[in-house]
Amino acid sequence: MHFNELDTPAVIVDLDIMERNMQRLAAYCREHSVALRPHTKTHKIPELAKLQIQYGACGITVAKVSEARVMRDAGIDDILIAYPIVAQHKARELAHLAANTKITVSLDSLEAAQSISLSAAERAVRVGILVEVDVGLHRCGVGSAEDAVALARKILIQPNLDFRGIMFYPGHMMAPVARQRELLTPVNQFMDEVYAAFARAGIPIQVVSGGSTPTAFLSAEFHGLTEIRPGMYPFYDRNMVGAEVVPVESCALSVVVTVVSTAVSGRVILDGGSKTFSSDRFLAGHGRGFGMVVQDPAAEFEAMSEEHGHLSVAASKRAYRLGERLQIIPNHVCTTINMHERIYGVRGGQVEVSWPVAGHGKLQ
Ligand SMILES: Cc1ncc(COP(=O)(O)O)c(C=O)c1O
Repeated sequence: MHFNELDTPAVIVDLDIMERNMQRLAAYCREHSVALRPHTKTHKIPELAKLQIQYGACGITVAKVSEARVMRDAGIDDILIAYPIVAQHKARELAHLAANTKITVSLDSLEAAQSISLSAAERAVRVGILVEVDVGLHRCGVGSAEDAVALARKILIQPNLDFRGIMFYPGHMMAPVARQRELLTPVNQFMDEVYAAFARAGIPIQVVSGGSTPTAFLSAEFHGLTEIRPGMYPFYDRNMVGAEVVPVESCALSVVVTVVSTAVSGRVILDGGSKTFSSDRFLAGHGRGFGMVVQDPAAEFEAMSEEHGHLSVAASKRAYRLGERLQIIPNHVCTTINMHERIYGVRGGQVEVSWPVAGHGKLQ
């Protein structure tokens, strides 16, 4: 079946581009001896996680315990939850998963460590722990080398926890590579302080987990990194193009929509709005639009109602037809996939495979 025969809106992935994106980063990681642990919150699809592992990933990352369960039930047995797990019932679920899966959790508080330790001890399982440090995003993570060592010392004496190392997320480094190099200097200075403080304390660090999609091909220049957790790299999106991380040709995912109204002059209405596309803004340049129209870059995806996408075509010379199909590259791929129950893999225009988004709605 050609993808234009799919009912719309439909999320499609160009398999040739996706496989190339996956293989390219896997090759870089092999060449630079950095382990690749993709963040699967981007697609929430076990089949794709397994493909990433087949291409050389050492395991996967997830954000939520419920996502971990979906991936574990599909047979993936080495999972990092790169998110602070704070409630006791989540810790219990985590301990349950750890009975037959290598589970590691990153955290930045003693409270989180204590509740995981309690549940792990109850079930007689062990859970790996990474201490999260803040390298500049100012979201989570302890802010100094001394605080990281102090937390690690306390983790070391909690029952059933294995302190494994350090985790950080350089989410503030979404920029062209030249600018990333400037931002990297203070990150490396901070990480050097962390390594020195751990060495002074005599606490060995086995894992330093960092990385992101924008910085993926700069990973070898981060001091001490042992693994990276990029999520978006199989697909990329309009924001990655806007940040000059990749050219538009590297974008593998688009949303196929149908033109349902051309009655208002200068407007074209699509059958997908804010229940189809994420509301993430375009982070580059003029900051406008909710996605890029592949067939007509002059069109602006200006507004969204729930079920209507509003294209402003005033600056376009293209003639739009009622009922025709268009493809939109979304601003943010992760939040877009999350809205859909199924996505389709396409090669040469033909639908080759369809995957349920098994982690759809897994937010707990
Ligand atoms: C903790 C953590 N690690 C890794 C990633 C993946 O990075 P990216 O979105 O750049 O692919 C994210 C993304 O939000 C994250 O929050």
